[in-house]
Amino acid sequence: MELSAIKADVTEVETAALVVNLYQGVERPAGATGAVDAALGGQISELIADGEITGRPGEITIVHTGGKLPARRVVVVGLGKKKECDLETLRKATGSVTQRLLRHRITRFHTVLHGGGDLEATGVSTRDLAQAVAEAALMAGYRYDRYKTVGPEEEPGEPPDREKEQLQAITVVEADGRKLAAIRAGLDRGGNLADAVNWARDVGNGPPNEIYPASLAERARQLAEEHKLEIEVLTKRDLEKKRMGGILGVGQGSAHEPRLIVLRYRGGKKNARPSVVVGKAITFDTGGISIKPAASMEEMKFDKMGGVAALGIMRAAALLKLRINLVVIIPSAENMLGGTAYRPGDILTSYSGKTIEIINTDAEGRLILADALTYACELEPKEVIDLATLTGACVVALGHYASGAFGDERMVQRLKEVGEATGDRAWPLPLYDEYGDDMKSEVADIKNSGGRWGGASTAAAFLKFFVKPGVAWAHLDIAGNAWTTKTQPCHPVGATGAGVRLVTEYLAGG
Ligand code: BES
Ligand code: MN
Ligand code: ZN
Repeated sequence: MELSAIKADVTEVETAALVVNLYQGVERPAGATGAVDAALGGQISELIADGEITGRPGEITIVHTGGKLPARRVVVVGLGKKKECDLETLRKATGSVTQRLLRHRITRFHTVLHGGGDLEATGVSTRDLAQAVAEAALMAGYRYDRYKTVGPEEEPGEPPDREKEQLQAITVVEADGRKLAAIRAGLDRGGNLADAVNWARDVGNGPPNEIYPASLAERARQLAEEHKLEIEVLTKRDLEKKRMGGILGVGQGSAHEPRLIVLRYRGGKKNARPSVVVGKAITFDTGGISIKPAASMEEMKFDKMGGVAALGIMRAAALLKLRINLVVIIPSAENMLGGTAYRPGDILTSYSGKTIEIINTDAEGRLILADALTYACELEPKEVIDLATLTGACVVALGHYASGAFGDERMVQRLKEVGEATGDRAWPLPLYDEYGDDMKSEVADIKNSGGRWGGASTAAAFLKFFVKPGVAWAHLDIAGNAWTTKTQPCHPVGATGAGVRLVTEYLAGG
């Protein structure tokens, strides 16, 4: 995949498709769109006058130039009302265009820098505009076809022609040569972030017969090798030695033994305290003895996305050469049922020494996180962020378009801001002391389920019980946005990589 920027006049570029834009309500396009319109003899203005192009967000019109321009097609994408247009509007526009062009098997295209001038006037940098283009196009162009042996248009038995179907090249066309350096920096940054997101998606979309704790640890090893990271993988025996009763308890029903994966990246000062990212990686969640209903259970292969996002964050930090020290901790198990599985009523002793009464074996994520958070707090961290597909209740509260954010108020506030800026959103949910009261057990120090109400917050309260007082900690519940079952402009169906851009940009911001 090539990302490049050239200084050129849009009316002079030779390409299969040239993408320009239009704000809603504009009758006479100016700038690049105006220049193209003039070269086409007013064809675009005519389509606007006829009401066929409105500039509404998401609208895509493909105009064949018939030789009036060196570009074979001009693609007009709607950006909505100028006043409401932000970076996320641009990402969605670029993402939708990319998906549409790929459907037509157009894998190389040119685009103007949407929002140039207008958004820059509101303080958005040229670099950020270019980053949005790269990020969106690469995220939208992602596909998971590892297991496809037949292409969409091929005869059975014919392998898919990936060259013809996959995004190959995007070129930003810019008339002002002084902007090229900033554009290239943005393309580079966006390309790296999207690469980390797509890497996470590839692991995330992996089926549970391919990705289980040991094979996930192998993926982490490959990542570590590629980026010269330190890695440590604790096996079942190591976990037993350390008395990590949460991870062991959840993992004991599966033929696939649990793991704890620890990765270290040193980009900061030698003695600078590390930021620690913890991610839940249940490679398949059946619910255990408290078994889940059969409907959509296959989606529970995505119950590893917190841990997988943590790996994506590691990859992004390394690609972007962030000047921080970062430790990623991934507890991983398969939550199965069977003769050796843990049961409701069991009492587990966590790594912290605190005991946990099991009410529901389907509340397993918090058990493996309890051990991992205790481990994280031993590292004298600057701050700890955990990501987990933790509760159905969070999906009820927020739906599919934001992570729930809990914990340290300053961190949550910044996560919300960075979420707004990146489009990888986080929204604050409460963590009152009373939620902790709901988790009190008659027989142990805490129980693993507080019942139905406020389930996302009681789960967060459970996690808080295992965070050392004084450690700055935030919890992101990504249950609603870790994967999607309907195509979104920048997210094809499947794992989304939620949290990768959010936490990486959060960490990059210092
Ligand atoms: N992995 C699930 C949460 C989940 C459910 C994520 C649906 C995404 C979509 C988690 O392990 C779980 O089962 N949580 C239970 C907790 C309950 C038993 C206290 C839940 O949310 O129902
Ligand atoms: Mn569960
Ligand atoms: Zn789960």
